[in-house]
Amino acid sequence: MANEIYCHTMPARILHWINAANIGLLTTSGMYIRDPELFALFANMDIARKTHFIAMYLIIYGILIRIYYSWVSRDYRELMFRLRDIRGFPALFRYYLFLSKEPPVSEKYNAGQKLLYNAWAVLVLVQAITGFGLYFPDGLAAYVRALGGPVVVRQVHFATTWVFILTVALHVYLSFIGGWAVIKSMITGYLPEGVYIQPVAGDERGDLERF
Ligand code: HEM
Repeated sequence: MANEIYCHTMPARILHWINAANIGLLTTSGMYIRDPELFALFANMDIARKTHFIAMYLIIYGILIRIYYSWVSRDYRELMFRLRDIRGFPALFRYYLFLSKEPPVSEKYNAGQKLLYNAWAVLVLVQAITGFGLYFPDGLAAYVRALGGPVVVRQVHFATTWVFILTVALHVYLSFIGGWAVIKSMITGYLPEGVYIQPVAGDERGDLERF
């Protein structure tokens, strides 16, 4: 059997799937709440709203625990998007737009991955800020007014949902392109030697030891 490299710790994997499940539940229940006829994904409004209300607390805890874990495990060093990562974008775009066959050289995660993972934490915050305005429209009336009023709050919550739908679709698509070994690594934690989370150019392959 090929040697395997440990690349995702147990807490990181558990939190990944918990957060993924909650984003899935929030998106589907939210779309049903928005338009139950067009997005007939739940049996009735009561179930959809209860699902949304439970998952919204779980995603907030899930993200806070992930940030805390990132700090104690120090894995923020490979996850945090820094300004210097911007330099990685031209090569990344050239590769993904089929303009270059040369895979971009990067560390464990490339610039796009880091930006996306960090953006999701910010977008959950946006959903929490607007979502609590939707949750307590009377009790938080002044807060909702300060955010631009109920219509703005609802539209921002809905527009942000589409950002989640599109970026999660991209993430799933790129994971599938990575192959079964990459997807399985998020379940078992291990990646066979010679398989990479994302394309890495030849000379940099020794970097995997840094995981
Ligand atoms: C993070 C904390 C969140 C809170 C506090 C929250 C709260 C709420 C509340 C109170 C509603 C209105 C429910 C109703 O009227 O019965 C709602 C609707 C909705 N939520 Fe969330 N939500 C959160 C996260 C999310 C996330 C992460 C998504 C999707 C990625 C999402 C998507 C939606 C959608 C699409 C609607 C329907 C909006 C509309 O009718 O225009 N929510 N949310």
